[in-house]
Amino acid sequence: MIRHIISEREEELPASMIGKLLKIAEERKDIISLGPGEPDFDSPGNIIKAVKKRLEQKYTHYSPPGGRTELKETIIKKLGKENRIKTMPENIIVTTGSTEAILLALMCTIDPGEGVLLPDPGFLAYKPTVEILNGIPLSVPLYEEDGFEFTTERMEKTIIPEKTNVLIINTPSNPTGTVFSRKRLEEIADFAREHELLVISDEAYEKFVYDDARHISIGSLNGMAEYVLTLHSFSKTYAMPGFRIGYAAGPENLVRAMTKLHTFTSICAPTLSQMAAMDALKGSQAAVEKMRREYDRRRRMVVKRINEIPGVSCIMPKGAFYAFPNIKGFGMKSLNFSEWLLRRSKVAVVPGTEFGRMGEGYIRISYATSYEKIESAMNKIERAVKDLESV
Ligand SMILES: Cc1ncc(COP(=O)(O)O)c(C=O)c1O
Repeated sequence: MIRHIISEREEELPASMIGKLLKIAEERKDIISLGPGEPDFDSPGNIIKAVKKRLEQKYTHYSPPGGRTELKETIIKKLGKENRIKTMPENIIVTTGSTEAILLALMCTIDPGEGVLLPDPGFLAYKPTVEILNGIPLSVPLYEEDGFEFTTERMEKTIIPEKTNVLIINTPSNPTGTVFSRKRLEEIADFAREHELLVISDEAYEKFVYDDARHISIGSLNGMAEYVLTLHSFSKTYAMPGFRIGYAAGPENLVRAMTKLHTFTSICAPTLSQMAAMDALKGSQAAVEKMRREYDRRRRMVVKRINEIPGVSCIMPKGAFYAFPNIKGFGMKSLNFSEWLLRRSKVAVVPGTEFGRMGEGYIRISYATSYEKIESAMNKIERAVKDLESV
């Protein structure tokens, strides 16, 4: 083994608790995992059928780095109709999931020492990606009393003027389930224009919104086309996480730079996945709505059950498939609470601190798990908390 082979950059990256949890949950069948960040549903039958056909048709070669023309055309139609974003092929890059789009976008916009505003709590890839590029993550604290939404005041306090290029937003949000209102997005848009920031808008959960909430793309707001890179993924919408496919839409010069870089990171997104993605967009959308309705049913049950547990409270999330309960009533750190729950009730949840410092005092519960399993997990958590109280 060569000594000093691992870079300092890699060594400084925090080890993810989610990885450990998923491993434990996979190995121990007696544990109910409320940890997963992926749909429990398999990819819909029409997509699986289409993939088999595409394989027979030998879509096994490389594709152009920016993505296949026929897929781009389908994406342009979808963005126009569903997101009200007008684009041309030059504005689109197809990526290996939106995780790769985040990396490519930041590699193309951040020089060492430059700042990136990002949500805290927020999706766990944002901060490490900024750090591996020697950028400065500027965590905008999100508070439960603001419904975990960005406020201009908090962004003003966090930004390093002249040294900040990018603002990352995520609606519907992981881990809080927040869906940004039009008014809030307009405030963010004004802030971005005033400070000349590129907004990376991660919309991976766009199709999973509930009650009266509507998903709005900040890129569709007046005058924002030049300021926004919109990221979409097939992982959640079509339950296709293993296909590793997503896309980004934004200013032509940025997309050109990302496409140039793409040639050196992965050449192109997997060709078979590109064809599957196109078939998914063109085919019946019934499965998407069916999944949304089931997530909604689970969401209402899980939040009701959580709020019945003494010492725990949870605001009703309006999107994604996560609840983010407040467990401050126990006086335990999120990590200790999660470990205690795992040991005591054999239920795996993710400590809020996985998503940033502001996640302290919270846990993330994913309801991308069957209704019955969630109910059983809730019974177990309730029992454990009762026992704790009677000690
Ligand atoms: C907010 C958010 N963005 C992006 C991703 C990554 O998605 P993909 O599978 O497209 O890389 C996830 C996955 O959990 C996510 O929660």
